[in-house]
Amino acid sequence: MLNIVIFGAPGSGKGTQSERIVAKYGINHISTGDVLRAEIKAGTELGKTAKGYIDQGQLLPDELIIDILASTLDGFKESKGVIFDGFPRTIAQAEALKKMLAERGQEVSIMLDLDVPEEELMTRLIKRGQESGRADDNEETIKKRLVVYHSQTSPLIDWYKNDGKYQHINGLGTMEGIFAEIAEAIDKI
Ligand code: AP5
Ligand code: MG
Repeated sequence: MLNIVIFGAPGSGKGTQSERIVAKYGINHISTGDVLRAEIKAGTELGKTAKGYIDQGQLLPDELIIDILASTLDGFKESKGVIFDGFPRTIAQAEALKKMLAERGQEVSIMLDLDVPEEELMTRLIKRGQESGRADDNEETIKKRLVVYHSQTSPLIDWYKNDGKYQHINGLGTMEGIFAEIAEAIDKI
């Protein structure tokens, strides 16, 4: 089983690189952000709750997101592995993931930290906001997402270092070049 946590600040390329990992390694992909945006689009109760947080650039409560993740994971039968994109985002979520996988006789194989300078993150997200109009891709909300990343999510870097799963990836450069570094790291597992 290949269980990959793809990690990084907003706009670091988690979704972009996940697509390439899925294509090469044939594993399932869970993006908690994509799940929530689909719920918003479908107009569900969960979607209504999620919208309030996403529009403010804030994280949803851990319990809620952990439940979503557990049920998505249960839907993957006969899976070769999973790429976790946008989860975990807090220490509590990382602990929950560890427990959830252990209950299934599994563990995280590697945590890939896509490291991208802040000016570049801002440039990418502003551009995407102009082109595709994701509701949280405006300057004000991006700034809030970055603050949340630094305060609540970046402590996971040390958490995964302590867990022996951390792998730094230079997230600046061409999408292909970055993927080559990722594939090299995965192939070494
Ligand atoms: P989520 O959807 O996870 O958003 P995010 O973390 O802010 O990250 P993005 O999806 O914006 O960026 P990405 O790293 O995937 O980069 P991408 O490949 O798209 O979360 C959204 C919200 O949902 C959160 O704020 C929160 O409210 C809620 N949420 C989600 N998960 C949660 C959780 N676990 N707990 C609580 N709340 C949760 O690339 C970005 C852009 O850059 C694209 O346009 C792309 O084409 C471009 N790009 C990519 N790579 C390159 C490159 N190498 N060079 C140039 N451009 C590039
Ligand atoms: Mg994404």
